[in-house]
Amino acid sequence: MQIHSAIPDLRAALNQRGRIVFVPTMGNLHAGHISLMEQARAHGDTVVASIFVNRLQFGPNEDFDKYPRTFQADCDKLAAAGVDVLFAPTEADLYPEPQEYTVEPPAIQNILDGEFRPGHFRGVATVVLKLFNIVQPQVAVFGKKDYQQLMVIRNMTHQLALPIAIIGGETVRAEDGLALSSRNGYLSQAERAEAPRLYRLLNDIRSAIRAGETDTAKLEKEAISALTAAGWQTDYVAVRQQSDLATPKGVNAPLVVLAASRLGTTRLIDNIEI
Ligand code: PAF
Repeated sequence: MQIHSAIPDLRAALNQRGRIVFVPTMGNLHAGHISLMEQARAHGDTVVASIFVNRLQFGPNEDFDKYPRTFQADCDKLAAAGVDVLFAPTEADLYPEPQEYTVEPPAIQNILDGEFRPGHFRGVATVVLKLFNIVQPQVAVFGKKDYQQLMVIRNMTHQLALPIAIIGGETVRAEDGLALSSRNGYLSQAERAEAPRLYRLLNDIRSAIRAGETDTAKLEKEAISALTAAGWQTDYVAVRQQSDLATPKGVNAPLVVLAASRLGTTRLIDNIEI
């Protein structure tokens, strides 16, 4: 696997390559990321991954400084997964001067996670567009675990007419259902044992809707109460339309249940499609 941090070096390495499939990450790779790399392989000739912890998408009181950086272990995993090229820029490579031109997503950036992480999706869209311009892939793969992020990127790619097909990769879960996430490493042993409750509650909501329940607000409230009773602090549990993440008018359109909740100091997000 080739590793490049400078943009000109990466561009030279990708010149004349066949169809490029790109998987951007922030590192601290787990089986969820590796499954995205494996999916990427099926869509092109050259798989390019990136590792960059993007300061622009973290709020002032978020975990940018403590975000786990495990570069060598990540390189070993990517090489074993057959990734061809890793782009691992430093901040000086990607943001040599303050990034003053940014991508401002529309109203979707202010709902759900965006309500609780102001500016997050501006930071994500900005770095992803910049990475797209550097790597110039034909295909890019993003995990469905970050459902709203996937939608922001899909919509940006469509509206800006970028010639890139966006693929959504299924969430990979631990045996007890917990969605794999780099932030799971922050959980204490007791919190890790408690964490699968989030997925169980999302499943309960899906089962209730499939069984005919139409009062989604009631289901959301019940889940939040169950989380609170178990010691969680919840930002949202929300049943939304898959198409635009708006509140559904009924339960017949394809839906998704999304949640963000904090166990101790660790904020977990998850979602499940119906
Ligand atoms: O999902 C992530 O890891 C990040 O948000 C991304 C897409 C790599 C942008 O920094």
